Amino acid sequence: MRVIQIGGGFWGGGWTSVIKNSPYTELVALVDLNEETLHRVGEEVGLPKERRFTSLAEALKHVEADAALVVTPPPAHEPVALEALDAGLHCMVEKPIAETLDAANRIVEKAKEVNRYVMITQSHRFKRGPRTVKRLIEEGAVGKIETLYGRYRKAPLFTGFRAEMDEPLIVDQSIHHFDYIRGIFGIEPDYVRARSFNPSWSYFKGNASAFVEFETNDGAMISYTGSWVARRPHTGWDGSWEVHGTYASLYWDDNRVLIYPHENVIGDTVFYKGAIERANDILEVPLDNVEAEERYGTLKEFVTSVKENRQPETYGEDNLRSLALVLAAVESTKRGGERINLNEFLITNIKKGSLTGL
Ligand SMILES: NC(=O)c1ccc[n+]([C@@H]2O[C@H](COP(=O)([O-])OP(=O)(O)OC[C@H]3O[C@@H](n4cnc5c(N)ncnc54)[C@H](O)[C@@H]3O)[C@@H](O)[C@H]2O)c1
Repeated sequence: MRVIQIGGGFWGGGWTSVIKNSPYTELVALVDLNEETLHRVGEEVGLPKERRFTSLAEALKHVEADAALVVTPPPAHEPVALEALDAGLHCMVEKPIAETLDAANRIVEKAKEVNRYVMITQSHRFKRGPRTVKRLIEEGAVGKIETLYGRYRKAPLFTGFRAEMDEPLIVDQSIHHFDYIRGIFGIEPDYVRARSFNPSWSYFKGNASAFVEFETNDGAMISYTGSWVARRPHTGWDGSWEVHGTYASLYWDDNRVLIYPHENVIGDTVFYKGAIERANDILEVPLDNVEAEERYGTLKEFVTSVKENRQPETYGEDNLRSLALVLAAVESTKRGGERINLNEFLITNIKKGSLTGL
C-alpha cells in the first residue's frame, strides 16, 4: 500500500520508519507544515526531497498513493482526513480521531460517501499483552466479567500540545485504556462518572490525573485510576488490570498474565491449554506470539482489511464509541463527577449524520 504520511513530529518521526520498514506499506511522501521537521525526518528515513511537501494538496499533485496516515495534533485530524478521503485515499488517523464527536462523525460519514476505509490507529491494541488477554477473554477463561480494575501510572516529560490541554491524561492517554475496555475486555459501558485533578508537582496546565468509573446496564463495574505525573511505582504503557469474572480472575501487569480459577472450577481449569502451573493454583499464560506488533500490527490489519474489502478492527465508526468514553468522562469531570449516560451523550453530541451501527 502506497502511503502519504501527514505529520512528522514526536510520534510521526517514528511512524515514517514503521511505514518504510513494514512489508505491507511503502512511504511515498511525507507532509509537514514545519520545513525543518519535514527535511530532518525525510533525511533520517532516506526519503528523496521531491517526495517531501508542506501541504497534502501539493503531495496529491505530485505523488500517486492508496492511503494517508494522519499524525498531526488532534485539531488538524478532521481537515486533513477529509482532504485525503476526498482525494480517494483510504485513511489511518491517529487517536483521538478528532476533538469532538461531531467532527469524528464527519470523517466517518465522508468515508462512507467516498467508499473508503478509515481506521483509527489505536496501536496499543496490537501489542502482544492485549492480544493475549483478548484471546483469553474470548475463549471464556474468566467467564462473564463483573468487575474490572485498571491502573495507569507514568510520568513522561512532554512539551507541545499535551502540556496545554485541559485534560491531557484522559484525552491523550486514557483513550488507549478506555479502548481496551471495549476492544480487549469486550465490555461496552453504558454510564461513566469521572473526577480529574492536577497534583502540585504536575508540569501540565490541565488535569494530569483522574479517577473514572464505568458501568453497564447488565451490572459490570469498572474502576480506572490514572496519572501522567505519577510518583513511583509506575506501570507499563498498558497499565495494570485486574479482572473478576464468574469463572476466574485474571491479572495482567507488566506483560505478565495470570489466571486465578475460582475454587469451585479449579478441576476444570488447572490444565488450561498453553498455561504454566504456578503454586496456589495460579496459571501463568505466556504472551502469544504475534507476527506484527503495535504500529506494525495496525498496518497489517489496515492493509489486510482493505485487500479483503472489510472494515478494519478499530474502524472509524466503532471508534466513535471509544471517543465517546473519553469525551463523556471529560464532561463528567466538568459537572463535578455527574453520572453520564453514554448513549444519550452520543446522540446529543453527533448533530449531523446517521448513527447507524452504533
Ligand atoms: N498511538 C500512540 O501511542 C501515540 C503516541 C504519541 C502520539 N500519538 C498521536 O499522534 C498525533 C501527533 O502527535 P505528536 O506527539 O507527534 O505531535 P507533534 O506536535 O510532535 O507533531 C505534529 C506534527 O504535525 C505537523 N502538522 C500540524 N498540522 C499539520 C497540517 N495541517 N499538515 C501537515 N503537518 C501538520 C506539525 O508541524 C508537527 O511536526 C496525535 O494525534 C497524538 O495523539 C499517538
